[in-house]
Amino acid sequence: MREIAVPLPGRDASYRVRVQSGLRHRLAAELAPLDLPRRLFVVTDHNVARLHAREVLAGLKAGGWEAHLLAVPPGERSKSWRQVAALTRELLARGADRSTALMALGGGVVGDLTGFVASLFMRGVPLIQVPTTLLAMVDASIGGKTAINLPEAKNLLGTFHQPRLVAVDPEFLHTLPPRERLNGLAEVLKAGFIRDAGLLRMVETEGPRLFQDRELLSEVIFRAAAIKARIVAADEREGDVRRLLNFGHTLGHALEAASRFRLPHGQAVAHGMVAALQLSRHLTGLAPESCDEGIRLLRKAGLARKPPRVAPEAVLSALGHDKKRQAGELVFVLLRDLGAAEIVTGVPLRLVAEVLPR
Ligand SMILES: NC(=O)c1ccc[n+]([C@@H]2O[C@H](COP(=O)([O-])OP(=O)(O)OC[C@H]3O[C@@H](n4cnc5c(N)ncnc54)[C@H](O)[C@@H]3O)[C@@H](O)[C@H]2O)c1
Repeated sequence: MREIAVPLPGRDASYRVRVQSGLRHRLAAELAPLDLPRRLFVVTDHNVARLHAREVLAGLKAGGWEAHLLAVPPGERSKSWRQVAALTRELLARGADRSTALMALGGGVVGDLTGFVASLFMRGVPLIQVPTTLLAMVDASIGGKTAINLPEAKNLLGTFHQPRLVAVDPEFLHTLPPRERLNGLAEVLKAGFIRDAGLLRMVETEGPRLFQDRELLSEVIFRAAAIKARIVAADEREGDVRRLLNFGHTLGHALEAASRFRLPHGQAVAHGMVAALQLSRHLTGLAPESCDEGIRLLRKAGLARKPPRVAPEAVLSALGHDKKRQAGELVFVLLRDLGAAEIVTGVPLRLVAEVLPR
């Protein structure tokens, strides 16, 4: 078992991120020391429900928990007001009250939505995160951010609601489609780029057998999750340190928007990381060979291999929108070295235009 204690900012308490193969079978025992209400609503999406819910529910019930299942349609559209209202009413209809806990069993969508509802239902009920995508294991389930989308923008409404436990079972990933694995791998590599060059090299050399080797997969998830945990512990709200997690995302978000969300998130972020590596050569003294190494290992992982089919003007215009929100300055997370990131303000648009993927 690998474990990280994440201190709660401003409080003398912490929650644990626990990573172990087969943990899904022992959730009841994991919850036992947490002093939670015995009634638990497991929120998931229809895909995860079909593949994994029966096993998880059976384990919880066998361990003495009164566990109920609620499933929402898969996909980003479930992070909506409509779904918040539907879930809340379903909770009430099935007898949930203030002595109820919610468990998010799924990817980042389920985690964000369930966290949002948990933070509001009866002014807040306990939340347990059981992530089932690689992205959620190393990123979305840690840090207490919750969100839903509005037609105007993604993640526009959100709260901070820290989980009582993040229970990571890498075996959930056996059923995860390759495209979703890549989305998560982009975030693993991001963590390596900003804080852990060793993790980058591990993924580069061991990458091909990553999803076949239980120990290796647990180690990679643990190292990436630990980086996220350390960063959010330092800085719960969106301060400077937390902004390091945006490496590759400034341009990544612009690419996603310019492609009308046809480009997968992981690929968009990977292209954003390639551009950020190139900017780092110009602006933060990243050695050319480290820049090349970074690009090479992204490609080796199956990311940023072919140019996205988006017009450069559309990307720059999407970046411009971002720029307005940040007081007229383009802000990028850049690298001094692989594993050492910093925030750079005032990056000239002209330079960004030069490093756009094409
Ligand atoms: N709160 C945060 O700090 C934070 C951080 C990063 C991302 N996010 C959010 O996370 C979301 C993306 O999360 P995601 O990439 O996990 O996407 P997701 O939750 O949509 O899951 C991707 C797909 O994989 C399926 N799936 C999940 N687990 C599976 C499994 N084990 N086997 C087979 N299929 C499985 C889902 O049904 C879905 O179709 C976005 O909404 C993003 O805004 C939040």
